[in-house]
Parts: sequence; C-alpha cells; structure tokens
Amino acid sequence: MIVILNFGSQFAHLIARRVRDLGVRAEIFPFDTSASKIKEMNPSGIIFSGGPSSVLEKGSPRPDKKIFDLGIPILGICYGHQVMARMLGGKVEKGEHREFGKEILSVRQHSNLFKGLSAKEQVWFSHGDQVNRLPKGFMATASTVGCKYAAYKSKSADFYAIQFHPEVTHTKNGTKIFESFIFSICHAPKDWKIDSVAEKTIFELKNEIGKSHVIVGISGGVDSLVAGTLLHKAVGKQLHAVFVDTGLLRKDEVKNVAALLRKQKFDLHVIDASKLFLNKLKGVTDPERKRKIIGHTFIEVFEHTIKNKLKKYPIKYFAQGTIYPDRIESAEGSKHASKIKSHHNLTLPEKFGFKIIEPIRDLYKDEVRRLGELLGLPKDMLWRHPFPGPGLAIRIVGEITPDRLHILREADAVFLEELKKAKEYEKIWQAFAVLLPLKTVGVMGDARTYEYMLALRAVDSVDGMSADWHKIPNELLEKISSIIVGRVKGINRVLYDVTQKPPATIEYE
Ligand code: XMP
Repeated sequence: MIVILNFGSQFAHLIARRVRDLGVRAEIFPFDTSASKIKEMNPSGIIFSGGPSSVLEKGSPRPDKKIFDLGIPILGICYGHQVMARMLGGKVEKGEHREFGKEILSVRQHSNLFKGLSAKEQVWFSHGDQVNRLPKGFMATASTVGCKYAAYKSKSADFYAIQFHPEVTHTKNGTKIFESFIFSICHAPKDWKIDSVAEKTIFELKNEIGKSHVIVGISGGVDSLVAGTLLHKAVGKQLHAVFVDTGLLRKDEVKNVAALLRKQKFDLHVIDASKLFLNKLKGVTDPERKRKIIGHTFIEVFEHTIKNKLKKYPIKYFAQGTIYPDRIESAEGSKHASKIKSHHNLTLPEKFGFKIIEPIRDLYKDEVRRLGELLGLPKDMLWRHPFPGPGLAIRIVGEITPDRLHILREADAVFLEELKKAKEYEKIWQAFAVLLPLKTVGVMGDARTYEYMLALRAVDSVDGMSADWHKIPNELLEKISSIIVGRVKGINRVLYDVTQKPPATIEYE
C-alpha cells in the first residue's frame, strides 16, 4: 500500500486514483498521522500531498518528524516538497511571483524518479513559496526558469520531492513519475485489481457475517446496488434487501430495480409506502420541511419493516453503500458529504443495535462501477446519473400532488431517453426535469392551452460541489422540447436552465 498524507490538497484523491490505476492500493490519511501508526500499516511508500498553507506560517501543517526515520521511501509534492525541505534543514522563502500553470521543466539528473523522461518536460505548477536552499545531503534534480529547485532528492535515503503536480493531466508524464516512484523506488506489489478486490471482499464478508443476517436498503442508486450484490454473493439468503417505494421515484424505477434483484434471487422486500409519503407531504411547499418529512417517514417505514416482515431473522448487520470519498470527506469535516448521505445513513443501527457493514468503503465511484460490471450488473444501471434521496419531491417546486408527479415522471423519462438516444447522456454528470408550478398560455392545434412549465437541467460536474450547465446541442434541445410538449399532457412550455453552481444549486429545492 501507498500512504498519502493529505495536507489539505484538492488533488489528494487524484493522487490516490493515479496510484490505484497503476494497480497499487493507495489510501489517504490526515497529515499528522503518527509515524508509529504508519509503521504498523507497513506501506511500501509515502506521498506528501500539496496543500493551501504556507510552511512559513506559524502552525502550518507538519507530518510527524519520526516519519523520516522509518526507512520508507517518501515523495513530497508541492507543499509536501516544501515541508520536507524545511523540516530537514533546507530553506523555504516567499517566491518573487506565483508560479501557476504549465511550465517547462529542465530535468537535470535522471534520478530513479525521472526514468524515461526527456530533458525538457511539460509540467503543471501552482505555488507561491519555493525552496531556496536544499537540506544537507540533498541534490537538485530539475529546475524551471523561475524555480531552481523544482525537484530534489536525498543522496542517501529514498526521499524525493517535486514542486509541480504529477497527478494532474497537464503534467504530460505524471503517470511515468508515479510509476517510477511506486515500482522502481518503493517496489510496491501490483495487487490492486478490481477482480481480486471482489474476491477478497466477498471472502471477508463471508467470514465476518458468519451465520448472522444482514439488511441492506436499496435506493436504486449504483452504490447500494453493488454493495447489495457483493453481500448477496457472500451470504445469499442471509441478506434481506429493503426497497422503499416512496412514490417519489422515477418512471419504472421500482419495477426495473426489483426485476433485476429478483432475477438474482435476492430476498427482496419492496415496500409500497407511496400513499403514506404523499399524505404526509400534502399541502407542504417548504423545501426543508419536505426533506424532513421524507427523512422521518423513510425511517418509520424501515423500522416498521424490520419489526414486522423481518422479525424472524437474527439480524446483526446493517449494510451501507458508503464509498471512499464519502468517508474521507466526512472525516475531514466536509458538510456536503454528510448532507448528501444523511438521508440514507439512517439512525437505525443505533436504535436496533445493528453493526454497520460497508462492503465498498474503500472504493472510488468508477471502481464501484467496474466492480458492478464484473458482478454482472447491467451497464445502464451502473452508469446512471446520481439521484437525490428525497427524489422527485425536490423537483416539483411547491406542492406535490399525484397529478404533478405523473407529469414530471413522464417528462423526465422523455428527456433522459432522448439524451441516451443522442449519446449525450454519458457526457453529462446529471440531467433531469423539474416541474414549475406556474401555468402559462399556449396554443395547440386551434385551441388555447393553459398548462405548466417544465425546466430541463443538465450539468457537468466532478463531485456535485460545483457545476456548469451542459451545452446540449440546440437541435437536440428543440427536439426534446417538442416531444415533451407533444407527448406529455400538462406541459405546454419547456425551459432550459443555463445557471451554474454556484450561484444556483443543482436541484431546485
Ligand atoms: P445541490 O442541489 O446541493 O446538489 O447542488 C448536489 C448534488 O447532491 C444531490 N443531492 C442530494 N442527494 N440526498 C441525496 O442523496 C439529498 O437530500 C440531496 N440533495 C441534493 C443532488 O442530486 C446533486 O447530485
């Protein structure tokens, strides 16, 4: 394994992804993880990430000093490059100007780290401070016009540092640098492959669960589907899957997901609670109240199902589809991650004394998808856009009525279907329709119409934290608009949302 110490970089996940893509397990830890804890994990190498701080500031992050005595190779990137120099006796100063963007690196010394690189390489920088004197026993290995020590290494130990970012694609040969570090320098075993991850996870789940029983809540999303399938392969009938139909799901969602799981012979409990949800939401227009009602009702339904339908089983575990970024981001206090998951992270385990089990807790989203493919799940289920817990309730502005739900479901289905047909769907991070509860005048045939407006939203994003509106070709937009107005009764006007996040959010409520 490669340990990545995170000094607050927005790129820490990218570093982990690069290493994993090369077939080596990589895990991110806080920068102040103790040397003894790292030693216990016995990693092949350590990477210090970049970060927004300046080593010149008082109280800026430092790793445990003893880390340099472990005899484990270290690669410092950007802030990591500066912190290593500073802690080992070099000098870091404010640079004359910020270096930001692409630069040409002159490779002076083809050290182990730069094997196979040319004398000039395009790399990507983003830093204000820079190393102006190396620690004793270190030598420069590369420079740029503005940065004398753009890379350095220890003459006696396996310590390497680079001021630029090899993890971003603007650094042309970034992957080669990682490859050299993890294989030529760290001699890390190449054992991170999704099929071995699957085998190992199923084996471990079997061992841990033994003869006990497990519940998994299926939401229709990728994560719970893959987590559930892994568990099903591990313990078969000891797994009980609960899929709550809130009445707020997309067209055919319940039918399709249920059919898939039944085909795999899951013990599946589809709970039709749509009437209960819609009753409780009657007359409610405030977005936060909608969310709260849905969250509480969900728990109520789940509890009821456990106490009644599942009471004969000795259930000990409650499975969740938490993935790696969820865990790391919550550990680092990102409100966003905890907000997104709060709907599904039911408080059930505490109440019932269940132990939590998270079969895909170490995986990134695209690893989850690859695993899903390996487990035989259909591609279109695995590559779907994210869908929020409160479902269509937050895509009908204002009051939710069965009528409005029907209209939205039909229009949303047309939108997604046409995007898929035009091969636009896979280029988009998230696309959906939103019902605006305003009626406007139109004309159809010879008759005047007075019907709702529909907004179409499609965004490009990496993680939902920020987003840009997706540039759907005009002809396609026009086609989608006319199919919706022609086919979906209740809509006579279609709008396309061209707002970024921020200032808008992706969802409407
Ligand atoms: P916003 O609207 O905050 O959405 O820009 C960002 C991403 O989060 C999803 N989202 C949710 N997901 N429960 C969820 O599971 C929620 O309550 C929730 N609210 C927003 C949204 O679909 C988008 O992908």
